[in-house]
This record gives sequence, C-alpha cells and structure tokens, in this order.
Amino acid sequence: IFRNLRGKTMKPTSVHDIFIISFFVFSHLVRGVRINAASAPDCFTLYCFTQYCLYLQLEDCRSGMYPPKGPTYGNVTWYTVNLDLPPSERWTQVIKDKNTELITMVRTIKDMAKGFFNGKLVNLVDEELPLIVDTLPQPFNEEIKGIAAVSGIPLGEITLFNIFYEVFTVCTSVVPLVVNVNFQRGNKTVFKSTNFAGYVGILTGIRPGEFSLTVNERFSVDGGYVGILEWILGWRDGMWMGFLTRKVLENATSYEDAKNQLSQTELLAPAYFILGGNGTGQGCVITRTRINTLDIWELDMKLGRWYVLETNYDHWEKPMIFDDRRTPAMKCMNQVTQANISLASIYDVLSTKPVLNKLTTYTSLMDVSAGTLESYIRDCPNPCTPW
Ligand SMILES: *[C@@H]1O[C@H](CO)[C@@H](O)[C@H](O)[C@H]1NC(C)=O
Ligand SMILES: *[C@@H]1O[C@H](CO)[C@@H](O)[C@H](O)[C@H]1NC(C)=O
Ligand SMILES: *[C@@H]1O[C@H](CO)[C@@H](O)[C@H](O)[C@H]1NC(C)=O
Ligand SMILES: *[C@@H]1O[C@H](CO)[C@@H](O)[C@H](O)[C@H]1NC(C)=O
Ligand SMILES: *[C@@H]1O[C@H](CO)[C@@H](O)[C@H](O)[C@H]1NC(C)=O
Repeated sequence: IFRNLRGKTMKPTSVHDIFIISFFVFSHLVRGVRINAASAPDCFTLYCFTQYCLYLQLEDCRSGMYPPKGPTYGNVTWYTVNLDLPPSERWTQVIKDKNTELITMVRTIKDMAKGFFNGKLVNLVDEELPLIVDTLPQPFNEEIKGIAAVSGIPLGEITLFNIFYEVFTVCTSVVPLVVNVNFQRGNKTVFKSTNFAGYVGILTGIRPGEFSLTVNERFSVDGGYVGILEWILGWRDGMWMGFLTRKVLENATSYEDAKNQLSQTELLAPAYFILGGNGTGQGCVITRTRINTLDIWELDMKLGRWYVLETNYDHWEKPMIFDDRRTPAMKCMNQVTQANISLASIYDVLSTKPVLNKLTTYTSLMDVSAGTLESYIRDCPNPCTPW
C-alpha cells in the first residue's frame, strides 16, 4: 500500500517508511484513552468502566457556577496577533511568553516517544518532519517556522504539535499553553480564538457580529490518520481541519459563507463543526466525513429545536454507553428552558459532571452579536469521571 500511494514529492527511503508506520502506531496508543472507550473492551476500559459505575449516579444540574471563581478557574491571558505582519513574525510575543511551557510540553511528548523503537522515533521526528512543513499551505508553514525560530525548539517538534494536535489535547501539559488570541488587521479585530500557544490552527473562535465556530473530534474507521498518511505520502487534496477553521474565521464573510466552506471543503479527518450566527435560526452542527457532509442539523423553532448540542457522536445515533455526556447535558438544557438561557446558564450546564470531566481543558462561552469570547481553564475535582 505504501509503495502504491507514495507521491512524487517525497523520496522513498526505508527510514521514511518506518517513520510513518511508527507514528501510526504511536498516535493510536496515545489516543487510546478515548478510542478504547468507544471500541472493544480491554483491561483498560474495563478498569475505567468500573470507575465510571461508581460515579454513575449523575449529579444534579449545577447552578450559580458563574462567574467562575476559585483558584483553579484561571483567567486565560489575551494576546494580539497582527495579520499585517509577515507570517513568521506573528506569534513572537505569544511564544516568548509561553516558551517555558511549550518546551515542557514538547519534552513530555519526547519522553513518551523515547519508549518506541529504541528512541528512533524521536530522531525521525527531528529529521523527517521538517520536510513535511513545506508541504503545508501558506500562511501556516511560515508561521510554524517562525514559532520554531523564536522558541529554539526543533522545527520537527513544532510541526508534530501542529499536525497531531489531537494527540496532545488530552495531555495535561497543554493546559498552561491555553491563550486567547485577538487576530487583527489594520489594528481592528478580525476574529478571536482560544488557542494552544504553538498551534497555528483554530479549535474555538468567533468573528464578532458574524459567527462563532468550534470543532469536535469525530471518531470513524476512515479516521484522521488515513488522511494524514495520505498527506505524508503525497496525496494532498484534503485540508487540515484546524487550518480550515482558521481560514474560515479569517476570511469567510458571513454565516452562510462559513457554512458552505465548512461543508464543502475536502478534509483530512472527519469532524463536527459547530457554527453559530447572529440571526434567528442561525445555529448548526455539521457532521463531516473526510470527503462530504453527512448532515447539517440546524436550529428550528417550528420543531421546538431551540438548541443543538454536540459531544463526539453523530446526533442521530445513540452516544456510546461509556461516554454519554449528551443525555445529562440535554437534561440540564431542558431544565434551564429557552427563556432563561444565558452565558451563565450555559456555563452551569458545562460545569455539570460528566459534561465536565477530567479531559475538559477549557470552557469557552461566545456571544456572536455581542462579539464576546471568554474562556476558563477547568479543573474537575474528585470524584470526577476520567472522560
Ligand atoms: C478574571 O477576569 C475578570 C474580568 O477581567 C475579573 O473580574 C476576575 O476577577 C478575574 N478572575 C481571576 C481569578 O483572576
Ligand atoms: C496600528 O496602531 C499603531 C499604534 O497604535 C500604529 O503605529 C500603526 O500605524 C497602526 N497600524 C495600522 C495598519 O493602522
Ligand atoms: C449580523 O450579520 C450580518 C451579516 O454578516 C450583518 O450585516 C449584521 O450587521 C449582523 N448583525 C449584528 C446584530 O451584528
Ligand atoms: C485570507 O485571505 C488573505 C487574502 O487573500 C490571504 O493572504 C490569507 O492567507 C488567507 N488566510 C488563510 C488562513 O488562508
Ligand atoms: C427563569 O428566570 C426567572 C427570572 O430570572 C426565574 O424566576 C425562573 O424561576 C427561572 N426559571 C427556571 C426554570 O429556572
């Protein structure tokens, strides 16, 4: 398969093959925390299941959690990224401030990777991944190079963080990297996001007055690694998910434009896009495969659908029994009622376990018309489910 898929851009070397295969294996192991939960039981999931049962008596919907207080609900710092600067200079301030944390995160990942193939995996990241960065689209390639230059971290490791970010989002070492970013052109805000310092794509963002956008991971057999493998091997038709969301936030001109781009662009990995607009009925969940759109689930007042709620499962299927955050979240939303919906009441819903769990890194609240984005780093004190 590798031989048939290989494109022209990368020279075939056996080292390259080992790199690809070991990454494939490595990423699945690290992601196991989540993937195992949704596939055949093994020792780990059985252990977790036991833990989960202990907590299965779901807690009552929280109230009065907002505004967040207490030492663990840290405020996220704001930075400005000036889009008028050359891409390589845009992230300088963020990286200067967060360099210690970035180095720590990269070291944690390296230590984990050292266990594979007698440490050869680490060498391969340093030697092979810098080749990949030039295949990434503008302005992402230049921004990544700029970040590597400012931080002094090898380019391969920054590239790794940018293309396998899903692996890292479950690591606790990314928590200190959470920042809010105000992206500006001509000294005016174009969009705002909550980001991980060092990552140039977007997972959560808002274009004030126009739309808000977040991404959720969608597990599928035809998963992200197929697309990433194809990219490495030279088939480069799809778009990196976090790069598409950045492009949409940066350059889409309306809710409709954003919706079209998000549903029509070929992707490297399946995903859910959660899009909100500023008008009545503008709110939807777009369920994507790599190639096409399976479903666009929109608000519909006539049907009494005053909210749409997405975790990590297709909304027309039941969530996995191990990971049902949807039922408790919907229970709380229905208790709040449309009349009482506000940032505060949404924060309460998102603070109710197991909607809030050990994997929750941050909670973001966005109001499209007001143009606001606020994010809070989360902690889930015991007893708390692992996911
Ligand atoms: C977070 O920021 C808000 C508004 O900027 C402020 O009122 C609040 O005291 C801050 N909280 C913490 C824990 O620093
Ligand atoms: C942005 O503001 C700074 C100082 O406030 C000014 O020096 C600069 O010329 C402005 N840039 C643009 C593109 O307006
Ligand atoms: C809503 O978005 C439309 C189109 O982007 C814009 O013309 C309008 O001013 C926005 N309304 C508000 C209240 O921001
Ligand atoms: C947005 O459009 C501008 C102008 O066409 C382009 O330079 C920029 O790279 C685009 N942004 C993204 C993230 O693609
Ligand atoms: C909604 O809010 C009103 C006034 O703030 C309050 O009296 C009422 O009890 C709330 N309803 C629910 C279901 O919480």
